[in-house]
Amino acid sequence: MDKKFTVKDFYKLKQENKKITMLTAYDFTTAKLIDESGIDTILVGDSLGMTMLGYESTIKVTMDDMLHHTKAVTRACKRAFVIADMPYMSYHIDAKEAVYNASRLIKEAGANAIKLEGGQEFVDTIKAIIKAQIPVVGHLGLTPQSINVLGGYKVQGKKDDDKKRLIEDALALQEAGVVAIVLECIPSDLAKDISNKLEIPTIGIGAGKDCDGQVLVIQDMLGLYSEFVPKFVKQYKKLGDEYKNGIKDYIEEVRKGEFPKKEHTY
Ligand code: KIV
Repeated sequence: MDKKFTVKDFYKLKQENKKITMLTAYDFTTAKLIDESGIDTILVGDSLGMTMLGYESTIKVTMDDMLHHTKAVTRACKRAFVIADMPYMSYHIDAKEAVYNASRLIKEAGANAIKLEGGQEFVDTIKAIIKAQIPVVGHLGLTPQSINVLGGYKVQGKKDDDKKRLIEDALALQEAGVVAIVLECIPSDLAKDISNKLEIPTIGIGAGKDCDGQVLVIQDMLGLYSEFVPKFVKQYKKLGDEYKNGIKDYIEEVRKGEFPKKEHTY
């Protein structure tokens, strides 16, 4: 096993022009497989609202949900740096509550850093969390917790005003001290521009190849969650079909009395 990926490696890899790899995980078994495959970082994303809990969006995800899933993931990880999402309304009311909630993800659940969505409006909150010795990852562009304000899952930063605002947000987050910024669903030329302007790395999802790293939702890239497959997803496997075939074989064998056989019996 390589040595544990630490907060220092974000900056180091950017300086060495090496890409950072990130995938989401929400449970022990999956996190162990990802960790053993040599990933740099695992995100316990609030996308678990959809992939694990069957919600339509991330809005209903709670601190208890995040703590429960983050604990399972950190128990599995030896090498990967684990980032836990701050769910909607866990950091919006005031900095004090945000620091307390962030500290629970670190102290109780064992995460190495937290991620939160938003730009300049959250700079004071981010600074307060960092002051409590908690590394913070930013998240700009399509920020799913703002879905009711954004009016849908659309590419962000197409208009000049929005581009300018995103660049200013990224610089403000860097200035506040975040270790990296996730850029979700923005044009690739804007993502390239932001990545070039920053000393900290950008991690892209639907933001093109010029980000300093990439993140995908594990269910999407393994073809396990096919309700909706966004354009930016590459399905490296079609495990959903594999799962179903295995389950169908099991059902058939049980019904025919072919399973269990002698070798499966005490
Ligand atoms: O919740 C999540 O999985 C995320 C990624 C899409 C970056 O925030």
